[in-house]
Amino acid sequence: MTLANKKILLGICGGIAAYKSADLVRKLKEQGADVRVVMSQSAKEFITPLTLQALSGYPVAESLLDPTAEAAMGHIELARWADLVIIAPATANFIARLRAGMADELITTLCVATESSIAICPAMNQQMYQYPATKENIAVLAQRGHQMWGPDSGSQACGEIGPGRMLEPLDIVARAQDFLAGDEQKPLKGKKLMLTAGPTREAIDPVRYISNHSSGKMGFALAEAAVKLGAEVTLVSGPVNLPTPTSVTRIDVISAEDMLQRVLNDIESQDIFIGCAAVADYKIEQIAKEKIKKNDENMQLALTRNPDILATVAKRNNKPFTVGFAAETNNLVEYARSKLERKNLDMIAANDVSVAGQGFNADDNALHVFWSEGSQHLPTTNKKALAKQLLLLIAERMNK
Ligand code: PMT
Repeated sequence: MTLANKKILLGICGGIAAYKSADLVRKLKEQGADVRVVMSQSAKEFITPLTLQALSGYPVAESLLDPTAEAAMGHIELARWADLVIIAPATANFIARLRAGMADELITTLCVATESSIAICPAMNQQMYQYPATKENIAVLAQRGHQMWGPDSGSQACGEIGPGRMLEPLDIVARAQDFLAGDEQKPLKGKKLMLTAGPTREAIDPVRYISNHSSGKMGFALAEAAVKLGAEVTLVSGPVNLPTPTSVTRIDVISAEDMLQRVLNDIESQDIFIGCAAVADYKIEQIAKEKIKKNDENMQLALTRNPDILATVAKRNNKPFTVGFAAETNNLVEYARSKLERKNLDMIAANDVSVAGQGFNADDNALHVFWSEGSQHLPTTNKKALAKQLLLLIAERMNK
């Protein structure tokens, strides 16, 4: 009964996958959830309200302008009642209307009026799913923090093959369980976490720059995992080629100076700061205004030190719990411990970037984590799993 006492509002739109929604109601209830159903007008062409009423045990909400239904539980009350709103199936039309913020029938109105999380389970013909406007609408809704569950790919009711199948009811139930997992699985709930990721670029002239091999994968994995553990995440990223994880506020920067400014603008309210970016240690003393011509066989560039973002944050009064990374190729323990002390950090995660298949621009990594009274080795695994392990360690150490 992993959904015991959870209130789930299931919205059903008019698509052929609506027949699966009846089974979804049953499976949610089997896990102990209290389920109420709202149907769009077109959903009733595919499945009857009576079926869903019988399965959920409640009358189905169908109309915004039904005085009897409003007397039982008004639409605002219903929107506030839910712990989670699941829209399954969510058609291309519904997704477009929600993106536009329309409240033109009960199902869209409830989504606009709810303060609860909304999980959208798209279901449509594969061509409709791949239509640019649909893809953009889905991306915008995900960026606003809505959960996007599916779709699956495979053979469709229309006979075509491709992405657009609604997830199976059991899969939706599993995601609901995961999403509504108790606070003990969200140890960063209520915490504000800021982190830096990716490389910085230090301009030489209008066409050239100094940078490094950081892909941003480690930092973006941390941002994604931190959201899942309940944190409110701000990601200050150098130039990388990665999509923004759901529910993360992303600030793009280019140089170390930009990164420092954007971090300082928002650091006051943060509980945790993680410096995962590979910040260029030096910048060009004088950036050339025009492209430098290659007139000479040799050339020298005068460099000057960049500000240390991590150390600047750690120096503040009331500093957040401050975690650094250390990218080392030798003497890892000694160098990491010295950075921990020198930069006044609460914790440092060191990676040996000389090991093939780890560190810069790899999917895997391993970390040696140090704090003043101890250390822990997190062995090689993919960066997403490693990010979660590091954050759990941070949550544990913060509470000591
Ligand atoms: O991005 P990926 O391809 O996934 O690779 C991940 C990674 C290898 C970049 C990451 O795991 C990592 O090690 N990041 C830190 C890289 C680094 O710059 O290490 P460092 O030892 O030079 O710096 C120590 C710490 O000071 C780091 O937290 C760094 O963010 C911070 N720093 C350094 C210089 C500077 N001017 N300002 C800083 O804030």
